[in-house]
Amino acid sequence: MADLAKRLSRIKPSPTIAVSQKARELKAAGRDVIGLGAGEPDFDTPDNIKEAAIAAIRRGETKYTAVDGTPELKAAISEKFKRDNGLDYSPAQITVGTGGKQVLYNALMATLDPGDEVIIPAPFWVSYPDMTLLAEGEPVAVPCSQNNHFKLKAEDLEKAITAKTKWVIMNSPSNPTGAAYDQDEMKAVTDVLKEHPHVWVMTDDMYEHLVYDGFTFVTPAQVEPSLYERTLTVNGVSKAYCMTGWRIGYAGGPAELIKAMSKIQSQSTSNPSSVSQAAAIEALGGPQDFIAEHNAVFRERRDMVVAALNTCPGLHCHKPEGAFYVYPSCAGAIGKTTPDGKKIQSDGEFVTYLLESEGVAAVQGEAFGLSPYFRISYATSTEALQEACARIKRACEALSD
Ligand SMILES: Cc1ncc(COP(=O)(O)O)c(C=O)c1O
Repeated sequence: MADLAKRLSRIKPSPTIAVSQKARELKAAGRDVIGLGAGEPDFDTPDNIKEAAIAAIRRGETKYTAVDGTPELKAAISEKFKRDNGLDYSPAQITVGTGGKQVLYNALMATLDPGDEVIIPAPFWVSYPDMTLLAEGEPVAVPCSQNNHFKLKAEDLEKAITAKTKWVIMNSPSNPTGAAYDQDEMKAVTDVLKEHPHVWVMTDDMYEHLVYDGFTFVTPAQVEPSLYERTLTVNGVSKAYCMTGWRIGYAGGPAELIKAMSKIQSQSTSNPSSVSQAAAIEALGGPQDFIAEHNAVFRERRDMVVAALNTCPGLHCHKPEGAFYVYPSCAGAIGKTTPDGKKIQSDGEFVTYLLESEGVAAVQGEAFGLSPYFRISYATSTEALQEACARIKRACEALSD
C-alpha cells in the first residue's frame, strides 16, 4: 500500500460515528442494543419537502448547478437570515455546501495557515478540532464547566485569545450539551470579541430551531452588529428539517471569504446535490409548523430523560435549553467496581460498561473534550428512551465501592 500522508496522523475518525457503527454491529450480531449515539432526528423528512425534490427531478433539475448553490436557494437563504435572525446577506455573501460540515471545513481550509489558532469552547462538536488540524491550524480548547452550564465565560475567552488567534467557534444550542446562550450570555462573549479585531467568529447555528420552554435563540452578528464584517454564520437543514441524508448546509459572511470558500469547493466536490437544493428551498420557505410539533416531543423526552438520569446513583444531569442531547456527569461512578470486578476509571470505561452490561450505546465525554461526562441523544423513540434509562439505572445500581 502507498504511504499515507502525514496530515492523516494528526486526526482521528469521528468517535460519534464510531459509536453508532459499534451499536449497529452489535445489533446485527443479535444483541439487544439501544443506540443513544445518533446525531439526527428520528422524524422523517416532511412530505412537502420530499415532493419538492420529486418535482425537481421531474423538471430535469439533475445537472450540475452553480458551485456554491443555485440562485433560487441563495434567495431562500437570504430571506431566512432576514426573517429569523435580522441579518442581511446578499447572494454574493451566501455559500451552500454538502452539509454544514463541508461549509465549516471550507472555511477553515480557506483561512488557516500553519500555527493559526482556533478557540473552541469545550465540550465541543467532535469535528471542530480535527478539521482545524487537517487545515494545519492549532485547536485551543477552552473548558466550560458545568457550574456555568457548559457556557464560555468572558474572562476565559479573554485569556485564550493570542496574536495568533484566527477564529473563535461558537455553537449554540450545543452538540454535545444542548446549552444555548441567551441574549445576555452571548453579549458577554461578543463584548470580548469586539475588542479583538483580528479574531473572526464562526458561529455554528445548526440547532437554532431546537430550543424549548420559550427560549429565544440569538446569533453573534445579530447581538453585536459590529462583528458582522468578521462573522461567518453557519446553518443547515439537517436537524430542524429532518434532512440529515440530503446534505445541505449553508453560511452567510463577508463576500471575500465566501468566494474563497467557493474556490475550495470548486476543486473538491463542486455543487451540492441539485435535487437536495430544490428540497432545501421548500424546507426554508415552506410551512414551518412541524418544527414546533417536533419540539414538543423533544422537550417531553428531554424532561423525562433528565428526571430519570437524576435518579441514577453516581450520575448528575443538567437540564439544557436546546438541541436533542443531554450531557450527564458520571463523576460519581468513577472509582466504582462493576459486577465482574473491573474498576471504572474514565467516562470511556463507563460507556463501555453501559454497552457491555446493558446494551446501551452512549458517547464518552472524552470525545467532546470534557470529562467525566457522557452524551445521550434523545432523538429516539420515547419507549426506547424509557427502557434505556431503566437499564442505565440498573447498571449504576450494580456498581459497588
Ligand atoms: C454542531 C454541529 N454542527 C454541524 C453538524 C453538521 O451537520 P450537517 O453536515 O449534517 O449539516 C452537526 C451534525 O451532527 C453538528 O452537530
